[in-house]
Amino acid sequence: MLITIALAKGRLADKAIKLLEGIGIDCSEIKESSRKLILHSSNRDVRFIMVKPSDVPTYVEHGVADIGIAGKDTLLEEGKSLYEMLDLEFGKCRLVVAGFPEKKELLITHTHTRVATKYPNIARSYFSKRGETIEIIKLNGSVELGPLIGLSDVIVDIVESGRTLAENGLVILEEICPVSARLVVNRVSLKTKSREIRGIVDGIQELLKGGN
Ligand code: PRP
Repeated sequence: MLITIALAKGRLADKAIKLLEGIGIDCSEIKESSRKLILHSSNRDVRFIMVKPSDVPTYVEHGVADIGIAGKDTLLEEGKSLYEMLDLEFGKCRLVVAGFPEKKELLITHTHTRVATKYPNIARSYFSKRGETIEIIKLNGSVELGPLIGLSDVIVDIVESGRTLAENGLVILEEICPVSARLVVNRVSLKTKSREIRGIVDGIQELLKGGN
């Protein structure tokens, strides 16, 4: 049975492809074409759809993709009903609250805080658990500009190397959670295409155990 895998274009793509190749799935068409959105494996009944990272959970939830590879940050933000089967142990970073060092005080005193972020749901849930009222300012990128330009007090964002924060004079104020790439599966596909999906999931799990 044909298996459709939703791959996030961008920073997770190369490692996801390497993993799939590691379990013997030919991915050469993905590596050759940069604009085609549906691509096929030459040696397995597998096709790939190349999607915007934040859309991976949507394709998998609707069942038009059986499997997806996406960051835990995206999964938390989108909150879709999916089976998270594997921690793929790449794409490691952290979700944090960051800002100028003096803003630490603001977070402690629970003053009305303006938060710029690509992750409004994560930010709302994180601050509301502490009974804090915040104003969310949704941005789609370069979130660090928020505090620099006076748009927000702090940001909720992912930090990988820490370079973007450091080069802009910002620091981590609080850690929300660690992030890494996850393999997710559609709930119905797991039943109807159980053998094929198990094959892929078990293969990747073995590969990860071997330290690849
Ligand atoms: C992400 C994130 C930070 C940066 C962190 O942005 O939003 O800006 O990477 O990485 P670092 O800690 O290694 O500096 P991304 O590169 O995805 O671009 P964006 O700002 O357009 O969202």
